[in-house]
Amino acid sequence: MSFLSKINKDKTPKHVAIIMDGNGRWAQQQGHDRLFGHNFGVESVREVLKAAQELNVKYLTLYAFSTENWNRPKMEVDGLMDLLVRSISNEVDELHESDVIISGIGDLDGLPNSCKDELNAAYERTKNNKGINLILALNYSARWELTEVNKKIAAKVQSGKLQLSEITDELISNELTTKGIPDPELLIRTSGELRISNFLLWQIAYAELYFTDKLWPDFKKEDFYEAILDYQSRERRFGMVSAQIEKNL
Ligand code: IPE
Ligand code: IPE
Ligand code: MG
Repeated sequence: MSFLSKINKDKTPKHVAIIMDGNGRWAQQQGHDRLFGHNFGVESVREVLKAAQELNVKYLTLYAFSTENWNRPKMEVDGLMDLLVRSISNEVDELHESDVIISGIGDLDGLPNSCKDELNAAYERTKNNKGINLILALNYSARWELTEVNKKIAAKVQSGKLQLSEITDELISNELTTKGIPDPELLIRTSGELRISNFLLWQIAYAELYFTDKLWPDFKKEDFYEAILDYQSRERRFGMVSAQIEKNL
């Protein structure tokens, strides 16, 4: 029986973030080069997006390229950038038809022009849609993001536009690249690695973490449903005690 039938559709997370990891190992296990795995990873993106749409998830953030990933061999970096451009360009019609809003977070100015242009065009085309937000984290890292926020806030204080007493949790959230996007309730990482790798450090303060050994190209709809079901079995206490949570149900 599918995990889908056990999911309470009224209690699905609004925002799911995913560290899509394991493409390289998946390819190498089959005797191919790493780019082969990245190519197959695109099919998992399609499946997971569809599953998220079925479950009324409003935001799906995918970690596609970190600021540290520039340190990979040039051939892999070039291949990934090329794949990104091709994938957005191939998928944008269908995504638009299914009401998806495509956007990016990260140091997008640092991407090659072809990527920036494709991403901007996809955003312009889909920005008035009303369905799921597909957010691609590209040239993203949480430390980069938090450093930028610190600089912006410091500059405002220095110029007298902002008082120290006005710096709040909310003000900081509104300076992040995820401004206006609710924090993810669920963070999934594939490939068996038990780390965050510089992803959304501020935003995942209270996210439920879900790790699976599946490599990203093997992660399909059913795996996504399983993660959602696991999420629904958790008690999110936010520092309180169980009895208080039960009362609020
Ligand atoms: C994730 O898969 C994709 C990116 C980081 C771009 P990897 O390429 O990290 O695959 P592994 O972890 O080496 O298997
Ligand atoms: C994290 O995966 C980044 C993305 C999925 C884009 P990595 O494979 O780069 O992370 P590490 O090196 O294992 O921490
Ligand atoms: Mg990896």
